[in-house]
Amino acid sequence: MPAAAKQLTRSPGDVDAQDQFEATLARLGRPVYRDESCAIFNGDSLELLEAVPRGAIDLCVTSPPYNIGKAYEAVMSAEAYVEWSRTWLEKVHSVVADDGAFWLNLGYMPVAGRAKAMPLPYLLWEAVPFYLIQEIVWNYGAGVAARHSFSPRNEKFLWYVKDPDNYTFNLDEVRDPDVKYPNQMKNGKLRCNPLGKNPSDVWALPKVTSGAGRSSKERTPHPAQFPLAVIQRIIRATSNRGQLLLDPFLGSGSLIEAAIADGRFAIGIEIRSDYATLSADRIKAFRRQIPLI
Ligand SMILES: C[S@@+](CC[C@H](N)C(=O)[O-])C[C@H]1O[C@@H](n2cnc3c(N)ncnc32)[C@H](O)[C@@H]1O
Repeated sequence: MPAAAKQLTRSPGDVDAQDQFEATLARLGRPVYRDESCAIFNGDSLELLEAVPRGAIDLCVTSPPYNIGKAYEAVMSAEAYVEWSRTWLEKVHSVVADDGAFWLNLGYMPVAGRAKAMPLPYLLWEAVPFYLIQEIVWNYGAGVAARHSFSPRNEKFLWYVKDPDNYTFNLDEVRDPDVKYPNQMKNGKLRCNPLGKNPSDVWALPKVTSGAGRSSKERTPHPAQFPLAVIQRIIRATSNRGQLLLDPFLGSGSLIEAAIADGRFAIGIEIRSDYATLSADRIKAFRRQIPLI
């Protein structure tokens, strides 16, 4: 059995999670795609989140539209964007479990008269009803070459929880094995954890790239795709096997692929039917590669 397939094996303790997953799906209507551990819905999250039972979600990871005129968004005023964000953020807060977590990926948007590129965490600070554990800087190599400022090479991943005294952090699942002196001893003991070092709050992980000869293997036609490596680290560190994950702005389905590869249940909501179908096709292809066992 390949290692990746083994990860999909469920344990008896997952029965409750399966029930929770089924109960949530029963309230969400007809999915574009579903299988034993994931489902994709085509619709507006602001409506569909109302149907998700309160506290049903153990981990929500998402990247909303940044209000910068991408193909999937109509640009709003900064005030309207903050209000729209507040609305969906409150809905997400109500569906996340008391010991659950919420990861919010944010970039930058121009704000007339104030900023060429406002960091969205500043703009949305008051609108997020969760408790902030940490801001992660995601640093990537590829991007536009700026001429009148430094070339932008980062976005943020904000790690929020509901209860700062009760949340999951599985550091050993995500240690970085790239240690300079792994065998260095102090008082007869290894100085470093043999599993590796804490990966820190700056994650240098490549973006999903496109273009002839430089396109990432995981690339889909979606214009703003999460890299699986980033999501995998978040999922492993801040959720447990058999838990229920959600992405209310699913895009190309990255959250679902990473979640089911690591034995979690996952639900995604996407407003555009072409992207919902793209996600469904991506997950079907992934299942063909690594079927459920
Ligand atoms: C930044 S992209 C997410 C990309 C995703 N993280 C991935 O890995 O592909 C945001 C997505 O949210 C979708 N979207 C925008 N408004 C939405 C809404 N109200 N409900 C659900 N999806 C929405 C857009 O169509 C777009 O695909």
